Amino acid sequence: MRTVPALLTVLFALTAYYVYTPLPSTLTERWKIMLLDATFRCAQDVSNFAHYVGLGHHLRVLNFVSNYFDKLDPVSSAHLKITDTVFDGVEVRIFEPQKELHGSLQRSIIFVHGGGWALGSAKTRSYDSLCRKISEDVDAVVISIEYRLVPNVHFPEQIHDVYAASKYFLQPEVLAKYSVDPQRIVLSGDSAGGNLAAAVCQQLMQDETITIKVKLQALIYPVLQIIDFNTPSYQQNMDMPIVSRFVMIKFWLDYLNGSHSFAHALLVNNHTSLDVSEAVALRQLLNWNSLLPSSFKKNYKPLLQNIGNPSVAQEIPALFDPRASPLIAHKETLQELPKTYILTCEHDVLRDDGMLYVKRLEEAGVDVTHDHYEDCFHGCMLFATWPTYFSAGARTRDGYIKWLRDNL
Ligand SMILES: *[C@@H]1O[C@H](CO)[C@@H](O)[C@H](O)[C@H]1NC(C)=O
Ligand SMILES: *[C@@H]1O[C@H](CO)[C@@H](O)[C@H](O)[C@H]1NC(C)=O
Repeated sequence: MRTVPALLTVLFALTAYYVYTPLPSTLTERWKIMLLDATFRCAQDVSNFAHYVGLGHHLRVLNFVSNYFDKLDPVSSAHLKITDTVFDGVEVRIFEPQKELHGSLQRSIIFVHGGGWALGSAKTRSYDSLCRKISEDVDAVVISIEYRLVPNVHFPEQIHDVYAASKYFLQPEVLAKYSVDPQRIVLSGDSAGGNLAAAVCQQLMQDETITIKVKLQALIYPVLQIIDFNTPSYQQNMDMPIVSRFVMIKFWLDYLNGSHSFAHALLVNNHTSLDVSEAVALRQLLNWNSLLPSSFKKNYKPLLQNIGNPSVAQEIPALFDPRASPLIAHKETLQELPKTYILTCEHDVLRDDGMLYVKRLEEAGVDVTHDHYEDCFHGCMLFATWPTYFSAGARTRDGYIKWLRDNL
């Protein structure tokens, strides 16, 4: 019987070891973040094990496990009518305020969910409740796009889905059906959804067959580049929960259908070394030493290799494609972009992706609002409701909604 307390002690110690991660004191609600992170790591470990024993691709298992407990049917309320439908072959969930319009037109948000191009869904509780909140508080029609995911499809299929659904919606007769004002539409997304929104926004503005353009783009801690994994924010936050640098690199490789065996080369910027011909100009374009403010640079040094792994660029043709990394688009493309909102968090590997886009857009003459949250972490906006309530979640969400109310 004495073994029971001993076993419990060992179990407790192991659990504490698994959950505990040292976190900077500038981050608020640290214990809750550790628990959230441990949950994600546990789900990842289980799906990696299932992959290993041949039950299926680890991302498919992870998505199955998370969606199994989380997918919701469209349930309307007194305030919102919620429906699932299809726009040009792409599933969408639509949130419409329930009210008498008397011929007046409404504002609208095209929303692209995040999840590393591989996870998440417009139908999960987290994105369903975020879109409900946006629709109610902005008093606008929200179109949440259910694009296809890795590993079923890879780059550029996710972009094609978001593009097709957006283009379909931006037709006069479709907008009229939903009583949407063609002058007041925003394209928005978070994380990998912010990557897709940014890429699609660049294409929509260039496409002469589309006469109705979006008024704004709003990007929430977006992923914007695969060129440099040693920006100050990647160095500072390499082990930060929910998305570490290594996890982000693996999402990128899966999205571009590249082998995970390149992950360590990407980690040390061997894919953009000076012996890779395209890389030289791109590293110059994203020269953060001159673009970032010193409060972001701190004492971090750029990592530029003379000799690296040119084979990565040969094996992954999309490596230098601006549709994958909207941050490297030409200035002529950026000049066409609408007024932009970018939200960044200090404790996020992707902070500098967002900040560099702010700089490049401003240089191209685009009107940009940059909201930076000193005590927040990547993905926090999804955690603003019980049982995963974080003040970081509610504050970032409310700031984003306020900007939409004021500018849309
Ligand atoms: C992805 O890569 C694998 C192996 O490298 C290849 O067999 C497959 O055709 C690729 N898929 C796509 C969609 O390019
Ligand atoms: C980076 O490239 C150099 C030169 O080819 C090589 O010696 C080194 O092992 C590479 N590092 C990684 C992690 O791939």
